[in-house]
Amino acid sequence: MTTTTDVSKRRKFFAQNNVYVPHVAVITEIIDETPTIRTFHFKFKDEKVQQEFNFESGQFGEYTVFGAGEATFCITSSPTRRDHFEVALQKVGKVTNAFHRLGVGAEIGFRGPYGNSFPLDFLKGKNLVFVGGGIGLAPLRSLIWNVADNRKLYDKVNIIYGARSPADLSFKYDLEEWAKDSALNMVTTIDRADPKWSGRVGMVPSVLEQVAPSNQNAVAIVCGPPIMIRFTLPVLAKLGFTPENILTTLEKRMKCGIGKCGRCNIGPVFVCKDGPVFTYAQIKSFVTGEG
Ligand code: FES
Repeated sequence: MTTTTDVSKRRKFFAQNNVYVPHVAVITEIIDETPTIRTFHFKFKDEKVQQEFNFESGQFGEYTVFGAGEATFCITSSPTRRDHFEVALQKVGKVTNAFHRLGVGAEIGFRGPYGNSFPLDFLKGKNLVFVGGGIGLAPLRSLIWNVADNRKLYDKVNIIYGARSPADLSFKYDLEEWAKDSALNMVTTIDRADPKWSGRVGMVPSVLEQVAPSNQNAVAIVCGPPIMIRFTLPVLAKLGFTPENILTTLEKRMKCGIGKCGRCNIGPVFVCKDGPVFTYAQIKSFVTGEG
């Protein structure tokens, strides 16, 4: 798989900086997505750093809440929108809980961007099928906006996104916008019927099967809870998608983000250095034990 990580841009970004020293960024907006997920918007305190900050869809950063610790999260916004950058965080541990206690104007540390990215050159001219569940839309969202902002470079775009309930749907404002865009086929679903919901009901893998996007010249980009991925992969196989044409991102296993701690390896691959974006062909044997 060819990735489009532009190493020289990242080197330039780090040129005056020790890789371990974070840049200070300020929270400029906070959006409550679900009862446990918030999206934070940031601008670097140093305007020059903000101007020079380049990243690609799929890359991640190491975020520090001073006094609480640091953790890696994907950048949720698109590099086509450079005024600020965003991260969506589910309250699950010490650092994310500390993040959720911060308000607009608070300062955090950011190191990065790290990792590879979604392979835009490989995706150009192709039909794209995004399959996301819950907070798994966060890394896909960067690429979806990137594609939407460069729509002519891609063929058909299907987005299938689901969550347990209407309240658990993230980025509702984006879902509405994508649904209105005739150049995108947006399908939103929830797992169980809900009196407040008049839309589609069904698990993401079943809805994918019903939508049945063509595998011709197509790539599926999947991110969501492990159970969703487990049931989505056989559906994609049934629809004719090969492991080489299924992409996913594995950010959750990372700690240091730069290949030092050894916490993120799956088999011989390091998620932080070799990923976080992989084709299913690259990780299939480590994930399923199949050769
Ligand atoms: S996250 Fe530390 S080695 Fe990959």
